[in-house]
Amino acid sequence: MLNTENIKKDFPIFSGDDGKKLVYLDNSATSQTPESVIEAEMEYYKTYRANVSRGLYPLSEKATKEYEDARAKVAKFIGADTRELIFTASATASSNMLIYAMENSDVFHEGDEIITTLMEHHSMLVPLQEVARRKKMILHSIPMTESFELDFSEAEKLITTKTKLVAFVGVSNVVGTINDMKRLSEMAKKVGAYSVIDATQAVGHIPVNVKTLGCDFLFFSGHKMCGPTGIGALYGRAELLKKLNPGFFGGGMVDQVVCGETSFAPAPAKFEAGTPNIAGAIGFGAACDYLEKIGIQEIENHIQEITEYAIEKLSEVAGLKFYSNIDAKKNVGVISFLIEGAHPHDTSEILGRHGIASRAGHHCAQPLVKSMDVYAVTRVSFYFYNSKEDIDKLILGIMEVKKMFA
Ligand SMILES: Cc1ncc(COP(=O)(O)O)c(C=O)c1O
Repeated sequence: MLNTENIKKDFPIFSGDDGKKLVYLDNSATSQTPESVIEAEMEYYKTYRANVSRGLYPLSEKATKEYEDARAKVAKFIGADTRELIFTASATASSNMLIYAMENSDVFHEGDEIITTLMEHHSMLVPLQEVARRKKMILHSIPMTESFELDFSEAEKLITTKTKLVAFVGVSNVVGTINDMKRLSEMAKKVGAYSVIDATQAVGHIPVNVKTLGCDFLFFSGHKMCGPTGIGALYGRAELLKKLNPGFFGGGMVDQVVCGETSFAPAPAKFEAGTPNIAGAIGFGAACDYLEKIGIQEIENHIQEITEYAIEKLSEVAGLKFYSNIDAKKNVGVISFLIEGAHPHDTSEILGRHGIASRAGHHCAQPLVKSMDVYAVTRVSFYFYNSKEDIDKLILGIMEVKKMFA
């Protein structure tokens, strides 16, 4: 187990009387920010704010160097080459941009099939639905088994030579399952389809290496892994990024512009139109430094132990039903549940009154939640600064909920 008491000292939000009482269990929505990330962002604004890749004066050169160093750090964090890492505004911006870029590169044709999963977050699913509608393609979903895992026997049937794209979530933000990303990437490759992984709940929580996974594209958000909000990343295999046309256009991504025609800069600049979120990228790089210092394997082990403990304790609560994977080894630390007789929003609100941050709703995954015959669930989600004591407080909070609705 990691020493969470020491770790919490790195996070300003956990300081002071209120901070010490805070039981933050909404990490799937967003994680907390360590001082080193806040400082890295502030240093940019205070001491070297300038635009990047444009100015020839020292301040701009320093900003460009820090921005590009951050790219190298984020790329290294997922085992990518620096030129394969595009900064975006978020995971959502990454998926939309990728779909536009693929569409603008004439990848999709009428009758092509796209395979996704029932576990998708709307940020992947809705752009897929939209492109399928625009291009008259067929969208299929890999279903989920009763143990909250992807049904690979169905996946085998769905992924065929008609498949153009296999787009799937690496880790579910509702049921917590860590999907077999390598296997699905291989299945896509075998039929000549592209693979895209939504790794938003995976990166920074479990080791993720794009080369080992063998995927074509992968995206994630900075704010789910101790980085700032408003910054995300899209990885693309070098030879694919070279071939792909951009989806967004403007300054900073061009080579030559003449009347009527434009040639584009090489990747990743080709995909970064306009002034980027410079401070956010620098903060994202600092977040990778911070997580590397803790150790990604140590983070995964810690989350697993907390998850195991939470499942054990929650299982003892009468009237609590899980809507998540209760095999801790396969769960990234996301537990959704309902308490008999209590509305999930009331549960979350009462927990909030006791200083416990959770979340209730459909978690931007309506098809998945509806497939479990409910319209909302309460979700708690853990990170490496959570302790078993936090889980004990959660259980006490749940007892208060039960008392209220008895
Ligand atoms: C699995 C998954 N994918 C994508 C997203 C979207 O991330 P963002 O809101 O940072 O774009 C989320 C956010 O909760 C998520 O959990």
